[in-house]
Amino acid sequence: MKKVLGLVSVSLVGGIAFVLSGSYNVSASNKHWDITTKILDLARDRSVHTASEDIEVPDLDTIEMISNGAKNYDAMCVQCHLAPGAPGTELNQALYPRPPIFHQNDDKHKHSPAETFWVIKNGFKMTGMPAWGEFHTDQQLWEMTAFLQKINNMTANRYFELVGEGGHSHSDNAVHFEASSDDGHKESSHKDMDNNGH
Ligand code: HEC
Repeated sequence: MKKVLGLVSVSLVGGIAFVLSGSYNVSASNKHWDITTKILDLARDRSVHTASEDIEVPDLDTIEMISNGAKNYDAMCVQCHLAPGAPGTELNQALYPRPPIFHQNDDKHKHSPAETFWVIKNGFKMTGMPAWGEFHTDQQLWEMTAFLQKINNMTANRYFELVGEGGHSHSDNAVHFEASSDDGHKESSHKDMDNNGH
């Protein structure tokens, strides 16, 4: 028992000395080891799974939910997560961990609707993913959840159709992007700046 206690104290002192020495490199350009990333991903996924277990999911499969969600997504999420037809952004490339690009089919980032809702509401510590629940109603968060269920492999045309005119505006922060949609004509997803839905 004494030996174990001794070992624990030595590791504790060693740990504190390491932290205080400043040797740990907190730079976002200094990537984690693969094993560290795997452990952090696992901890995140297990935490989200457990936290969202009792959440009841409303009917998400209505065009109203999906298109309201698309408008809010367009106003608040595109800078980091991009959207069909949108160009890449510096934020998407420079953040670490890198925000997933939802419209590009990627199983690694598949969550159930309850989990997705929980993540949008609460965000992730120390990643750059904000807790949107601080300033939005559950209804708005469910609408974005509904939209995210449909975003996989979505065409730019469909995205523009859903976002439509008069999307919810965060006029100063919103990303305004222009993209050539599939049939070649140019559209801006963010023409109208009135303040509905917020
Ligand atoms: C400032 C950048 C930023 C903004 C803006 C942002 N996110 Fe995120 N988001 C992130 C990062 C970073 C992650 C974490 C990636 C990781 O842990 O690997 C993330 C993760 C997520 C995840 C979980 C994905 C996964 O694989 O676990 C969801 C869902 C999500 N964001 C939805 C949204 C929605 C919806 C919005 C807009 C309301 C939004 N995000 C806005 C940066 C952002």
